[in-house]
Amino acid sequence: MKRVAILISGSGSNMVALAESMVGYHPARPCLVLSNVPGAGGLAKAEAMGIDTAVVDHRPFGKDREAFEAALIERIDRAAPDIICLAGFMRILTPVFITHYAGRMLNIHPSLLPKYKGLNTHARAIAAGDEEAGCSVHEVTAELDGGPVLGQARVSIAPDDTAETLAKRVLPMEHRLYPEVLARFATGDRTPISLR
Ligand code: GAR
Repeated sequence: MKRVAILISGSGSNMVALAESMVGYHPARPCLVLSNVPGAGGLAKAEAMGIDTAVVDHRPFGKDREAFEAALIERIDRAAPDIICLAGFMRILTPVFITHYAGRMLNIHPSLLPKYKGLNTHARAIAAGDEEAGCSVHEVTAELDGGPVLGQARVSIAPDDTAETLAKRVLPMEHRLYPEVLARFATGDRTPISLR
């Protein structure tokens, strides 16, 4: 059974989808939900699901990313995870952290990568006149939002869509996609999948 640590910064809806999927014959189980934001909504949800939680607040570390990541690694490794899932974890990670978990860290990003790395993805897709938006699950490598894509889900962009209405349609797709990719990844299957 693989052990999965899930890193969040906010409401944790993807974390809930992942945790709810890891039951029965699933090859993995959640071992830790960690947030860099004290009081993040996802922490209470994880606790309610009986999952161990932790907070490593980035703010006391100021600009010292190295020290923040050392504390993060120390806390994560105490839970001995095989797989790390970033699920709305809104800190940029340095190569030190990424190398430490090389080949075993996934992220979900709200765009059809390689399009729209970074922030404000839905607004950028609309502004560009794209016909489709979506989300991607990828392996985390040193290039921001640039690792191998393991799955994508697509939705059509309607003429009257705003970033908010689009996000509301993409988020449920994220909740389908991420568990499906994780279940495969936990068995060593990295074949990309596509949902619609
Ligand atoms: C999700 O839409 C996720 O794709 C996005 O943050 C949201 C977190 O929501 N991630 C990023 O933008 C990463 N760059 P959640 O806390 O409800 O899962």
